[in-house]
Amino acid sequence: DKHFNTRPCLQDPAQPNVCSVVKEGFWSSYRLNVTEENPLGSNFRLLDVLMQAMVKPDPPESLLVEPVPFYPRRLQVSWDYPVTWPRESPLQLKFRLQYRTVLHGSWTVVETENLSVLITDALSGTEHVVQVSAKDYFDAGNWSDWSVEGRATPWKSPTAEASDETTAAELESSNEGPSQVPHTEPFDRSDPLEKVAILASMGTFAFIVLTVALIITILIWVRVRRKGKEQMKNHNFISGVHMKALPKAQIL
Ligand SMILES: *[C@@H]1O[C@H](CO)[C@@H](O)[C@H](O)[C@H]1NC(C)=O
Repeated sequence: DKHFNTRPCLQDPAQPNVCSVVKEGFWSSYRLNVTEENPLGSNFRLLDVLMQAMVKPDPPESLLVEPVPFYPRRLQVSWDYPVTWPRESPLQLKFRLQYRTVLHGSWTVVETENLSVLITDALSGTEHVVQVSAKDYFDAGNWSDWSVEGRATPWKSPTAEASDETTAAELESSNEGPSQVPHTEPFDRSDPLEKVAILASMGTFAFIVLTVALIITILIWVRVRRKGKEQMKNHNFISGVHMKALPKAQIL
């Protein structure tokens, strides 16, 4: 009883085995009637198609891989939506990124909803290959093909590359090189958790100091008040004596 809106699928005469369904809804399902005709007769086949199940975005574009100054194990990676997936579309994309050194074959894969990733476990002094791919945010359809490769080498300490021609002064300064690297390295790796831990312990320390200071202040204040009250009492007592003494003096 349902009424279906049936339309012909337009064929390009140059490509007889292709027809394009244009400007159709993403969350719709379609039944395609593919009919073969020849002088002897015709035969048809029906295909049910879920648009969201077959969607496959184009790979992300404008991939940029950059070293991060002073961090020999970091690479900053950023990219953009493919131009064929309108940015203002309510259907967002999510991404996955894969990276490895130029020399070794195994990829590390990271998934993200952002348009950038900070790699923090790159191999120092080695060139890395990075690629990204995209998929519908709610997991409909398929992952896109991998994007074009991006390549970069993490930042290198200039003092770490001492050449044969280095002067005594440069050698001296290059001695700081190796000690500088382990200096930045633990910072580099530990950062977010360690910083939080340091902040937390500093906060706890400050809290304890403030609490002790507050308690001391309260104790001093209570003492001062008590003393003040005692003085007041003494004062009242004395004036009471005066008052009582006065009539006696009159009597006398
Ligand atoms: C498919 O299309 C052919 C040719 O137009 C038609 O004869 C056939 O009835 C169609 N089949 C269905 C199930 O609509």
